[in-house]
Amino acid sequence: MTALTQFQPAPLDREARFYVAGHKGLVGSAIWRRLESEGFENLIGRGSSELDLKDREAVFAFFASNKPRYVVLAAAKVGGILANSTYPVDFLSDNLRIQVNVLDAAREHGTERLLFLGSSCIYPKFAEQPIREESLLTGHLEATNDAYAIAKIAGIMHVQAIRRQYGLPWISAMPTNLYGPGDNFSPEGSHVLPALIRRYDEAAASGTPIVTNWGSGSPRREFLHVDDMASACLHLLENYDGPEQVNVGTGQDVTIKELAGIVAEAVGYSGAINWDTSKPDGTPRKLLDVSKLTTSGWTASIDLVSGIRSTVDWYKSNIDHIRD
Ligand SMILES: NC(=O)c1ccc[n+]([C@@H]2O[C@H](COP(=O)([O-])OP(=O)(O)OC[C@H]3O[C@@H](n4cnc5c(N)ncnc54)[C@H](OP(=O)(O)O)[C@@H]3O)[C@@H](O)[C@H]2O)c1
Repeated sequence: MTALTQFQPAPLDREARFYVAGHKGLVGSAIWRRLESEGFENLIGRGSSELDLKDREAVFAFFASNKPRYVVLAAAKVGGILANSTYPVDFLSDNLRIQVNVLDAAREHGTERLLFLGSSCIYPKFAEQPIREESLLTGHLEATNDAYAIAKIAGIMHVQAIRRQYGLPWISAMPTNLYGPGDNFSPEGSHVLPALIRRYDEAAASGTPIVTNWGSGSPRREFLHVDDMASACLHLLENYDGPEQVNVGTGQDVTIKELAGIVAEAVGYSGAINWDTSKPDGTPRKLLDVSKLTTSGWTASIDLVSGIRSTVDWYKSNIDHIRD
């Protein structure tokens, strides 16, 4: 218990074994690239086909033989509203098991520094905007992804409990909506930004004159490029310690209508953009308060327009092997 009070964040050892759980995903692959570019020499990654993190015995065996000194937990079952509301059991059960196995095994096998990744959906549906870290557990969750959110909240609590019981300086970060190379563009599983990229790109290719989106387009949302997210993760590991989760975002939001306009221009779609106001809008605004992160010395550097342009370029050149 004494180690925690004395812990001072410091640059990580570039030669230490560093396990990125979920290194093939949107976030994990960006973290992997970032760590490589920062000179980390002993990165460890396992795809879900090699190591199913739901399998407790396999996870313990992996940690016993690899003994990573650092871990980022970016492996999770992730999806948009449709997937979350159709398969709530999978989002609850898979994520709880992945987290409990990785956190328990990392603790058992001596991981010193660990970053757990949650999501902004952990905050109450009607949290005051911008959403501060202190809003956690102050109100009801959004019903469409409450099972996923509860699993993520359990992960934050697990990290806090490990800090209290074992004195380890592990931390949690809560990113806003992320986008970038490697995203999920499938019609069933994707989030709003990749879904818009795919929809407008296909409309541009087929010469469709009108694309209709759900809702009024007036809700405001925040988007962070995943390379910025990766940079923030390393920054937190090297500069932050504390029990409270840290919000990660840009601190700026746009309307979905503005977002659609940026995407349409980036893919070269020049047809009409319609809004079906008979469909629900969801929460009017969702913006994270990032003052804690800013105070620790980090701010986002990739602006939304250029981030979307480069993501569209990536999408177009990888269209034959994107996830479906
Ligand atoms: N995307 C966002 O907008 C967003 C926003 C906020 C927070 N986050 C958080 O960031 C983290 C990563 O999200 P992401 O967007 O990178 O998701 P993603 O692209 O779907 O990647 C998830 C990764 O998890 C791995 N995984 C899933 N189930 C596994 C299992 N049973 N065993 C081993 N590996 C497993 C997958 O491995 P394989 O590829 O090998 O199957 C995949 O690489 C999540 O905790 C999520 O909550 C994401």
